[in-house]
Amino acid sequence: MKEIALEPHVDAITMPENLRVGLMISEHRKKCSAIACGFDYYGFAFGQSPFQVPLPIQKALAENTDKGHYSSAQGIPELREAIAGFNKRYFNLDVDPSRIIVGPGTKELIHIIFDMVQGGVVIPSPSWIGYSPQIKLLDKHFHTFYLKPEFDYKIQPDDLDEFLSGLPDDQHILVINNPHNPTGTVYSREELEKIADVCRKHRTLVLADEIYALITYDFDKFTSMGSVYPEGTLITNGLSKDRSAGGYRLGFCILPENCSQKLVDGFTKIAATVYTNVSTPTQYAAITAYEPNKEIDEYMRIVRDIHRIMGTFMSEEFNKIDGINATIPHGSFYFFTDFNELSADLIRKGVKTSNALSDSLISHPHHIAVVTGDACLLKPDDFGARIAFVDYDGEEVFENYKQKRPNSKSEEIEFVKQNAPRIVRGIDALKDYVKYIKAD
Ligand SMILES: Cc1ncc(COP(=O)(O)O)c(C=O)c1O
Repeated sequence: MKEIALEPHVDAITMPENLRVGLMISEHRKKCSAIACGFDYYGFAFGQSPFQVPLPIQKALAENTDKGHYSSAQGIPELREAIAGFNKRYFNLDVDPSRIIVGPGTKELIHIIFDMVQGGVVIPSPSWIGYSPQIKLLDKHFHTFYLKPEFDYKIQPDDLDEFLSGLPDDQHILVINNPHNPTGTVYSREELEKIADVCRKHRTLVLADEIYALITYDFDKFTSMGSVYPEGTLITNGLSKDRSAGGYRLGFCILPENCSQKLVDGFTKIAATVYTNVSTPTQYAAITAYEPNKEIDEYMRIVRDIHRIMGTFMSEEFNKIDGINATIPHGSFYFFTDFNELSADLIRKGVKTSNALSDSLISHPHHIAVVTGDACLLKPDDFGARIAFVDYDGEEVFENYKQKRPNSKSEEIEFVKQNAPRIVRGIDALKDYVKYIKAD
């Protein structure tokens, strides 16, 4: 049998992070077992919530296993009602359920938006690893808009204005991921309003990827782009990160206020063509996730605070290392680390590109798994890395927090030391790595 020929766009997409990191780790394991090294790695690469799915949602899923029928491509009406109520309660958004589309995770919904909306996509860098491969797969254009470390990698309205002025006069869609994977930054209402003004001026739509919205540590400070730019924003959100249910594959998209029926129909048509409907039992379980529920609210409060404690500790410890600059996260479970002060030393040690940095960090004896380079849409010579701070046993840590909530900065530090030893040892491993890079 001749080798099966593939279409060229398959080669054009970069390996998704989960596969690339997985390959990098198995390569690392092979090399380490060859030298009889028993230690695995510090898991700062994968961005997966370590906690259990809240029990009321698990229970609702178990109770709906009999729902074996196909269901509406747009999402069952009861779920869209619940999602509308959720968006009112948490984000003060007035959303008619007819503007909501339910999908198998936000990744698929984002893919459909890129597919459906005409024009180029503007992706701020550093970026979540998922956007650019999707656009390449669709054979569409994207423009990389480089963010500046001195502004905490936040979009500056004047820079955006200049950038959009330089693009062909066409409709564009700007991706704003808030809270931001990979930096953990969160935009204020005022910052979003200024960005919205620039977008209005340039007829630019916004894809507001708000999957980490409920993991804004100071939740009262979160503003949805939908509330400042309702006519031009498509919001995506879902169960994966805040309710720790990535495997349930359920997300939703809110289309812009007063959008045309053509847009709703177009989206629904693609949904029906590509995935028919999201698993019906999962949709019923998601009603519980989005309806008012005190137990889930309490779960969210705990999870949010644990992420804050872990992220603050780890990023502050990183910043104490000479040559390393890390963002301090205000949401999500990531921060971004800039190794550029060490670039001369890195190059001298043979680490010549941002992609090579992750290979070097995971190699023996360092064993630190991170995401760098093309995956984050960085320039090849930009030594930056995304750090996820979820390498601990979520179930156990959740219980320990419930038993005794840390009440001061020193108790929080002690909490990390007791509950996340791999994070603590991983920081020491990074200190040793920097020493090794600087050594002659
Ligand atoms: C910023 C961002 N957007 C979207 C997604 C996709 O989430 P899901 O498809 O599980 O809803 C992720 C997951 O890693 C993410 O980090």
